[in-house]
Amino acid sequence: MPAFRAPRGTHDLLPRDRVAMARLERIGAELATRYGYRPIETPMFEQTAVFERGIGEVTDVVEKELFRLAPRSDEAESWALRPEPTAGIVRAYVQHGMRTWPQPVKLTMSGPMFRYDRPQAGRFRQFWQFDVEAIGDPGPAIDAEIIELAHRFYADSGLHDVEIRLNSIGDPACRPAYVAELAAYYRPHAERLPALERGRLERNPLRLLDSKAPPLVELNNAAPKIPDHLCEACNAHFAAVRDHLDALEVPYRLTPTLVRGLDYYTRTTFEAYPAGDEGQQAALGGGGRYDGLVELLGDRPTPGIGFGLGLDRVLLALSAAGVELPAEPVPQVVVVGADPAASAVRLRLATDLRAAGIAARAELAPRKLGRQLEAAAKDGAHFAVILGDEAATGHAQLRDLKAGSQKVIATADLVAEIERADRRHHHGDAT
Ligand code: HAM
Repeated sequence: MPAFRAPRGTHDLLPRDRVAMARLERIGAELATRYGYRPIETPMFEQTAVFERGIGEVTDVVEKELFRLAPRSDEAESWALRPEPTAGIVRAYVQHGMRTWPQPVKLTMSGPMFRYDRPQAGRFRQFWQFDVEAIGDPGPAIDAEIIELAHRFYADSGLHDVEIRLNSIGDPACRPAYVAELAAYYRPHAERLPALERGRLERNPLRLLDSKAPPLVELNNAAPKIPDHLCEACNAHFAAVRDHLDALEVPYRLTPTLVRGLDYYTRTTFEAYPAGDEGQQAALGGGGRYDGLVELLGDRPTPGIGFGLGLDRVLLALSAAGVELPAEPVPQVVVVGADPAASAVRLRLATDLRAAGIAARAELAPRKLGRQLEAAAKDGAHFAVILGDEAATGHAQLRDLKAGSQKVIATADLVAEIERADRRHHHGDAT
């Protein structure tokens, strides 16, 4: 047993996993570019108040899961690691006066997020999100556009059976009456509620709907549903979002119980699940509209919408679905030699090949040629360049390890020859 291990709830991304994660990040970045989102990078920690105010103080994310950094004695500010990107991105929108930019401002980010959650399958204390935010557009068309983008991300990554669940949770015009009705519904059961939930009944009854505590699971099933309490404007917005989704042929399931766990949402909310999965922990992503958030963080009222998806969970879902993940890159060429001691000559040639853009490795150990060739084959390299007697006349043997052929070639021609053979191998190109 090693003395040190990665912290509980975190996981090392070993090279194989990192390559798979990088592929997802690339799919996200390419999609975001195609849809007009520009990259942004905010710090991994912020003033705690950004999250408390933005996400809401009476939420799991802030009450239970925020990684608070212990303040240093000489610094007054209290900081926390970001549990999600939206609050930080909106803080940046306000700070940099982005309301003077052409609206909506469409931004994308991906990177690690931190939640001090109880670790379990698919729930980590450090996890990766891919996120997009469109700030300054009241919708409804952009709501559908963003949901379609989420849907496309899953399909492009290899998950074709993802269900989008959709709801509207109203706005400050209609939600207060609904929340009052919700509180009235729970109040007679207050005695049965665990302490945390009893507190929420008074401070933020909507968050009771997220609770998995035993008496609540049952109570929540029969609780009043928010779509039955929408005002006319929210109803019209919700209907228009659905019309747009239908026009885009994005399938979705209306889910009246979907309220999301963060307080900033208004109107459109959605989540993505592997089809057939009824669990709550398995959400592959989620998002929604947050028309009050910019104002909460200090600017004039500005609508916004976005979504974030959990890349670790997408990787788990891909592996559960048996989708083959990309292989790790291997050196295309290994430079070996008949004289085990001549490592400088091998290294020089590998260096020249790398400078020309070819992934090459030189055999650095002074071992026999046979062993060097075995190692090259084990690496999965396409070619071995063998330096022998011909080196005196500026030649080498080029062995195609895949085709099993070998020929003598001038070292000056190696790059062109390797590129040509590689093209032939990958594309069946006869030139
Ligand atoms: P969220 O639903 O809290 O939303 O997180 C988005 C996704 O991140 C989840 O659906 C899940 O895939 C992943 N995720 C969350 N927590 C964990 C965890 N502990 N371990 C592994 N994966 C996790 C947000 O974060 C919002 N900022 C989304 C958004 C953007 N809304 C508007 N704009």
